[in-house]
Amino acid sequence: MSVLYALLFYVATVLFVVGLAVKIRQYAKTPAPLKIPTTPAPVTQSGVVLRMAREVVLFESLFKSNKWIWLFGYLFHVGLALVILRHFRYFQDPVWDVIVIAQPFGIYAGLAMLAGLLGLWARRLFVERIRYISVPSDHLILALLVLIAISGLNMKFLDHTDIVMVKQFMLGLMVFDIRELPTDFPLLLHLALVAVLMIIFPISKLLHAPGVFFSPTRNQVDNPREQRHVAPWARELDK
Ligand code: HEM
Repeated sequence: MSVLYALLFYVATVLFVVGLAVKIRQYAKTPAPLKIPTTPAPVTQSGVVLRMAREVVLFESLFKSNKWIWLFGYLFHVGLALVILRHFRYFQDPVWDVIVIAQPFGIYAGLAMLAGLLGLWARRLFVERIRYISVPSDHLILALLVLIAISGLNMKFLDHTDIVMVKQFMLGLMVFDIRELPTDFPLLLHLALVAVLMIIFPISKLLHAPGVFFSPTRNQVDNPREQRHVAPWARELDK
């Protein structure tokens, strides 16, 4: 079982890293021929950086457009960020101070993450306009994340696993030394679902995470009156 999971994680990691790199390269090379920042927009580059930071940290444009989606989306994402921070302890020895400090918050974050996900899912199920535009992958990704959160919380509160062994296994993977993994079902389920998440990430809508930085409506300076905008691929023609 340890060898099987080690192979699963090596494959998942390669697909995740290479897939993400290919996608980011593709985004970076896609021309943005038109000046289309959503106005009112910053007129300087540092203003754009500030706007992007507000978008990433506070989900500003979502807040302006829909308070309910913002609330559930924010709960989920902040919860997820803290849960991931808490999980760093399985991958480092000694553990950084900031990760130690995050530990107690991480537990509530798991619950917040689940509450956010259920709120977002309820919206897809019960709001008719949203149900109409929801496709199977929207539901499947929500189901995957909900199952990861529930299987993790189950280990935290009910069926405990041997986290020292889990840590040894993960540290071993990082130096290509396959060590023993506990074989209790909740852990195996949690890890298998995480591997599925890593594999589908580069071919799913979850790409909005890196994608937001490449959005022309968000990353452009509002200066079309001061400066001529020419997409890089059109520079030759413009001479
Ligand atoms: C290879 C990566 C991962 C490993 C080895 C892992 C392992 C674990 C373990 C052992 C626990 C139980 C903690 C305890 O008993 O104190 C746990 C909990 C949890 N996991 Fe994971 N997990 C991984 C990735 C993830 C990911 C990517 C997510 C979210 C998408 C996630 C979400 C959770 C949640 C919400 C909990 C419960 C709250 C907590 O203890 O932080 N896990 N995980």
